[in-house]
Amino acid sequence: MITVHTIRELREQVREARQQGRRIGFVPTMGNLHDGHISLVNNARQRECFVVASIFVNPLQFDDPDDLARYPRTLDQDQNMLAAAGCDLLFAPDVNEMYPEGQDRQTIIHVPEVSEGLCGGSRPGHFDGVATVVNKLFNMVQPDMAFFGEKDFQQVAVIKKMVADLCMPVEIVPVAIKRADDGLALSSRNGYLTEQEREQAKGLYQTLQEIADDFRAHKDIEQTLKTARERLDQRGFRTDYLEIRRTSDLAPATAEDDSVVILGAAYIGKARLIDNLLIDNLTITLNP
Ligand code: PAF
Repeated sequence: MITVHTIRELREQVREARQQGRRIGFVPTMGNLHDGHISLVNNARQRECFVVASIFVNPLQFDDPDDLARYPRTLDQDQNMLAAAGCDLLFAPDVNEMYPEGQDRQTIIHVPEVSEGLCGGSRPGHFDGVATVVNKLFNMVQPDMAFFGEKDFQQVAVIKKMVADLCMPVEIVPVAIKRADDGLALSSRNGYLTEQEREQAKGLYQTLQEIADDFRAHKDIEQTLKTARERLDQRGFRTDYLEIRRTSDLAPATAEDDSVVILGAAYIGKARLIDNLLIDNLTITLNP
């Protein structure tokens, strides 16, 4: 695997791969990689792509400077994991390469509606930062396909809408959530958990499963979510949001909808964890 740090080198490498007739599969990340990221690389490889990954901790998508400062930077370890997974090229730019005019003078992409509420409600400006950096990265890499984990369900919706609205020639491939044996969704933020918090953390997925059971049983959304918030409290979480939304556009679900997604975000200690569970035709779509 080759690692490059500049847009010029990145474009040279991608051009060569294209000249060899390869399709480009892109895996954008912020590093501190885990098996969830590696499953994105595996998906790109299964499609016989020339796999380009990026690692860039994007300051534009952090609303809290402390959160940005403590975000783990583990480039050497990440490089080893990507190389072992068969990634072809790593783009690891610094902040000046990405925002040469400064972040304040950067054109911002705002994706309406799907960006609002949920994580967009608790983290103002977050999805503008995500959409802007992903747009720039797509223009730099010019991939045929880009791979995103479904743990960030709203992020996938934002990126799909951006790509559709701006007629960007890239296929967005959502990849199922990777979970630990006890159900906890893999996340770079799990590293912030103490041993005791890690034990409690599985309670978020348990709560989403209980919401799915309750919703299927009596379809009373308000009561289901009220009970679930109490359960999360008892499990040691501070709930940020728990919602049932329509899968197609993330609008609030009604009892008539048969394809919904249960989305949750909750704090445990200093870590803010997010997770979701899809229910299609009233059957839960289990993530492997
Ligand atoms: O999901 C992430 O890691 C980031 O939001 C992304 C898509 C790499 C943009 O910085």
